[in-house]
Amino acid sequence: MRPWPTDRIALGGDYNPEQWPRATWREDMALMREAGVSFVTLGVFSWSWLEPAKGEYDFGWLDEVMGLLHENGIAVDLATATATPPPWLSAAHPEILPVDRDGHTLWPGSRQAWCPSSPVYREHALALTTQLARHYRDHPALALWHVSNEYACHNLPCYCDTCAGAFRRWLRQRYPGLDAVNDAWGTAFWSQRYTDWDQILPPRRTTTFANPTHQLDFARFGSDTLLDFFREEKAVLVEHSPGVPVTTNFMTLTHFRHLDYHDWAPEQDVVSTDHYVIESLEHPRAELAFSADLTRGIAGGAPWMLMEHSTSAVNWQPVNRAKAPGQTIRDSLAHVARGADTIGFFQWRQSRAGSEKFHSALVPHAGRDSARFREVCELGAIAGRLGEVRGSRVEADVAILWDYQAGWAASGPAMPSGDLEYALVGQSIHRLLRGRGITADVVHPSADLTAYRVVVVPTLYLVRDEHAAAIAAAAESGAQVLVTFFSGISDEHDHVRLGGYPGAFRDLLGVRVEEFFPLLPGETVALSEGTGRLWSEDVTPTTAEVLGVYAEGPLAGRPAVTRARAGGGSAWYLSTLPDDQSLDAVLGRIVTAAGVSPAAEVAPGVEAVRRRGEHGSWLFLANDTAQEQTVEVAGHDLVSDRPVGSVVLEPGGVAVVREA
Ligand code: GLA
Ligand code: GLA
Repeated sequence: MRPWPTDRIALGGDYNPEQWPRATWREDMALMREAGVSFVTLGVFSWSWLEPAKGEYDFGWLDEVMGLLHENGIAVDLATATATPPPWLSAAHPEILPVDRDGHTLWPGSRQAWCPSSPVYREHALALTTQLARHYRDHPALALWHVSNEYACHNLPCYCDTCAGAFRRWLRQRYPGLDAVNDAWGTAFWSQRYTDWDQILPPRRTTTFANPTHQLDFARFGSDTLLDFFREEKAVLVEHSPGVPVTTNFMTLTHFRHLDYHDWAPEQDVVSTDHYVIESLEHPRAELAFSADLTRGIAGGAPWMLMEHSTSAVNWQPVNRAKAPGQTIRDSLAHVARGADTIGFFQWRQSRAGSEKFHSALVPHAGRDSARFREVCELGAIAGRLGEVRGSRVEADVAILWDYQAGWAASGPAMPSGDLEYALVGQSIHRLLRGRGITADVVHPSADLTAYRVVVVPTLYLVRDEHAAAIAAAAESGAQVLVTFFSGISDEHDHVRLGGYPGAFRDLLGVRVEEFFPLLPGETVALSEGTGRLWSEDVTPTTAEVLGVYAEGPLAGRPAVTRARAGGGSAWYLSTLPDDQSLDAVLGRIVTAAGVSPAAEVAPGVEAVRRRGEHGSWLFLANDTAQEQTVEVAGHDLVSDRPVGSVVLEPGGVAVVREA
């Protein structure tokens, strides 16, 4: 087995040699060496090539590619190739096809057209995994197993009859009996009471609003079902290829929410993820930073792998813009700054055919003689110098809580405001802190919160009792805790906590709310400082002091910002979403009270993140402004490979300074 490259930050990406003639493979090896590629992910969509007919395996071509990679010193992250079934399998077993909410079968013709609950699909996938594991277990190029690919990207939720049966079995395990399901789902409402398990269906399209807890449990079931499948594939690998680490690539992108990665992470030997910058977002680079901090949180603070991102344009946005010169390097280092020890891309060579032919790659259509490939080579050289950073940890005094299940519940049907997107408030706070040079860990409410000076609880709509208790304990033991509106509202079954909002946090915050006044699209409300948008509510302080009020409208004079004492710390409450400047002012007061300082003194728009290891620390800098910026820091810049006393960053420029 080849050890994972450790003298550098590993650089590489998905390699799909089956799309190319053999002559190209040789050229690939030469170009990979030129670019400093140290790993590839191989075989992700190779099932129909590896098993051209049921039980007939053809590993010859893959042996050849593995051999070439080994000769060239490139480690292989070998896929189990089970992400997409071959046409012979779906033709023989159409029952493996997924079904959407409207009852439409999703036919083969693209990828991942398989039902997450299908025992037939599993059986065939496990058979292939077994063969691959036995065949490659001792291969010297094999460094890592890559199970399936981006689970749930396209095939969850599936509403087919197989899933209906599996959902009932899942419910029987979760609840002591049908009465408990009826209680949890609140089926006294709208005559929904079930008297037999077989009456329970997936939440298919219905006449009007579906039962929210039914939907929530179905989302949990979907994540659990695929996790169970992952475990089965992993067990095969562990049995037949012991000692080789196993991962599957997560999708920690804001728009992807189908899996609860906090449940998945403990099953990974190393957490890996895919991330794509979406240029049409209002704050694309802030979204990248948030997603990377979330990935680190999912990984429990340990270094993680960036399995895929793009050198330039993707193919799946309405308009797919190329990255600016230098942005391949800048985006890559932004992930490394936040804990990635690997820089992976989709894909090595840009396809000639197929629906991803306009997705960028390390080797673009233009070929070796291109600005993009030259930038990739430059990145390879930088990655080669960054080996010393491996294993170090990102410093953060702030935790921002993120819970996929709270997000599922918050995006349930018929809520007070359809405009309240779960990620919005947390990401706004994260972005403003980042603007201050302050790094946050984005962590699950069950994470150990005791080491943080600031704990942010953004729109944590659904919260379990024990998590609410841990948040209160963090304040008691000295943290500044900031809770925003629409937090603590419901329990794990999405039943509203009675007696006044924000139920679970009422005592901690010393406030009580009787009614929400969500704001209409585009509507703002004047505050004593700045304006609020999206939300407002009628807050009565019980023990909290009032720091800011609504200045107009039905709530004029009522609290918008409050703070209560809580043991050694404080509990702050925001009942609206202030404009950036006013929100930043509140955050400024909080970080000052907490004694949190930035990673470095930087101008607004310059990103500064510190990683620290046993033998030193590294300051990652990126200039997102349109002007040249100077940062005072002494040490050795690993990007320019020069000693520095201060760093001058061009617009878009980056530096990684090993601090003196
Ligand atoms: C995902 C997939 C890849 C590829 C890229 C394109 O990350 O895993 O196979 O489709 O998207 O962005
Ligand atoms: C979309 C695309 C996929 C993948 C993800 C992001 O869903 O269809 O190919 O790239 O986004 O990884």
